Amino acid sequence: MTETPIHKGLAGVVVDTTAISKVNPDTNSLLYRGYPVQDLAAHCSFEEVAYLLWHGELPSPDQLAEMEKLERSLRPLDARTKTLIDALPTTAHPMDVVRTAVSQLGTFDDTLLQPEGLTDRTLNEGRAMYLFAQLPAIVAYDQRRRRGEDLIEPRDDLGYSANFLWMTFGSEPAPAVEQAFNVSMILYAEHSFNASTFTARVVTSTLSDLYSAVTGAIGALKGPLHGGANEAVMAVFGEIGTADRADDWLEAALAEKRKIMGFGHRVYKHGDSRVPTMKAVLDDLVEHAGRRDLGDLYDALEQAMTSRKNILPNLDYPAGPAYHLMGFDTATFTPLFVASRVTGWTAHIMEQLESNSLIRPLSEYVGPDQREVPARP
Ligand code: CMC
Repeated sequence: MTETPIHKGLAGVVVDTTAISKVNPDTNSLLYRGYPVQDLAAHCSFEEVAYLLWHGELPSPDQLAEMEKLERSLRPLDARTKTLIDALPTTAHPMDVVRTAVSQLGTFDDTLLQPEGLTDRTLNEGRAMYLFAQLPAIVAYDQRRRRGEDLIEPRDDLGYSANFLWMTFGSEPAPAVEQAFNVSMILYAEHSFNASTFTARVVTSTLSDLYSAVTGAIGALKGPLHGGANEAVMAVFGEIGTADRADDWLEAALAEKRKIMGFGHRVYKHGDSRVPTMKAVLDDLVEHAGRRDLGDLYDALEQAMTSRKNILPNLDYPAGPAYHLMGFDTATFTPLFVASRVTGWTAHIMEQLESNSLIRPLSEYVGPDQREVPARP
């Protein structure tokens, strides 16, 4: 055994620099390229925030108009992707469908065949935009086909959020719902070296391609300790039923040593900076939908968890019920997270390539000492 300290889960380890976002757990703040995320959520569209993450600055009106034009032109679901999705079982988890569809999109891109095409910044900006524009179509269509509904073509007179909701539900959203969705996309977009972003950077560090990196990141996001928690929160609410049962349910769950989904965070120990903004949005949706019962259940479990364990909610806690009230199926919640976080992932992929070094840590071997292969019969 060596004396080298082991950092299980890389907890507390700084592995690289980044100029994309800053998480400060002491001041409970999250900055994207220097801007507080709650200010971006209050004043910007998700398209503007995507541009900011990729390019480092908010777009000028002309830059935004050009970006929106391109994004809208790339929205229609590729016919080959529709065929692929139709061939996948409706029993498959929607995250597996999104992962498979993104992987397939990589096979259409023949600029990947030249080695220099793998890492070219301009090509990667185009690929990031293509995934940004295609993911709403993929996520919306997969939910619709599960409900026995047909594909809805995108509308190029609507912004990103309104169009996403249009393609999912076939009606223009109420302003409160559109705004809630826009805020959720902005809050989910970026969060420094979280597990899925780090996965994308690891894949990129081998000089693999952007689609492979995003496909890997989707796999990492799926787990309930990461993005899968927003879906798992609704399962918890389903188990509890009503607000008056929250405390007893929690006591029993903690006695079984269960992790309560939507609570706790590796970095934030005094509260997740994104929660107040998302909770305000949830309160509006509760009001809009007349679902005080859900709001009460939310408050009751939060209060019980805080008083019993002093562990605070993370973004997934308000985001899960918010997506429920917007009308999304529970299994679609984490794919919505993908549609948002693809902006952060692709910004990190491009940043990784600016000063790449293969990510290849060490391990301490604890298996048997060297030995001889026994004679084979
Ligand atoms: N429910 C019950 N106990 C918890 C929870 C929870 N949600 N979170 C932490 N704890 C306890 C944990 O049992 C441990 O207690 P003890 O010291 O007595 O063993 C202590 O708090 C420290 O927990 P940890 O698991 O060592 O902390 P971590 O930094 O490794 O875990 C976490 C962070 C997010 C994996 C964990 O809080 C968790 O599993 N939460 C539930 C899943 C969840 O909501 N995930 C979304 C994370 S935020 C959004 C995102 O990034 O995707």
